[in-house]
Amino acid sequence: MLDVGTKDGFIASQFIELGMQVDAIDINDPKEEIAKVNFQKIGVSDFLESNTKTYDITICRHVLHHLDKPKEIIKKLNKISGVFLFTYFGPKDDWFGKVSTLTHEEVLELFAPETVRHHSETFQHGKTYAQEMKFWHINTFVIKND
Ligand SMILES: C[S@@+](CC[C@H](N)C(=O)[O-])C[C@H]1O[C@@H](n2cnc3c(N)ncnc32)[C@H](O)[C@@H]1O
Repeated sequence: MLDVGTKDGFIASQFIELGMQVDAIDINDPKEEIAKVNFQKIGVSDFLESNTKTYDITICRHVLHHLDKPKEIIKKLNKISGVFLFTYFGPKDDWFGKVSTLTHEEVLELFAPETVRHHSETFQHGKTYAQEMKFWHINTFVIKND
């Protein structure tokens, strides 16, 4: 599997525990080496330029809002994935205007309807990694390609 924007490898490590081979990328180094994970320090756009692999599962959680051309990256990640799970912040998020946001519908229209296995929109108060409270508008998608 591929974990995009792995940070300290929380998601990647769960898949190691399941016995999977895990590649993980991030533009920043993790705090500590992530055990058994094949980590590369690289931005997702550069990774996609050079990558030749495909993955059974790709996860990209709470990362895409950092990107200038998110739709292009979403489509490219989907192309290399059997199952692609990702989140995207929506316009009601407290970070609206500071990061890139997309509506649920804008993301959905990128995919053939029969490939969309899950899509949900959640609204919640919660903490950021910096332990600050914020209002989150999180769109979650699971795409399954044949
Ligand atoms: C909020 S954290 C999410 C961490 C983890 N995916 C999770 O769900 O908890 C966002 C991560 O995306 C990374 N990131 C930001 N821009 C990126 C890019 N262009 N390519 C790869 N990683 C990026 C950041 O360094 C950070 O580690």
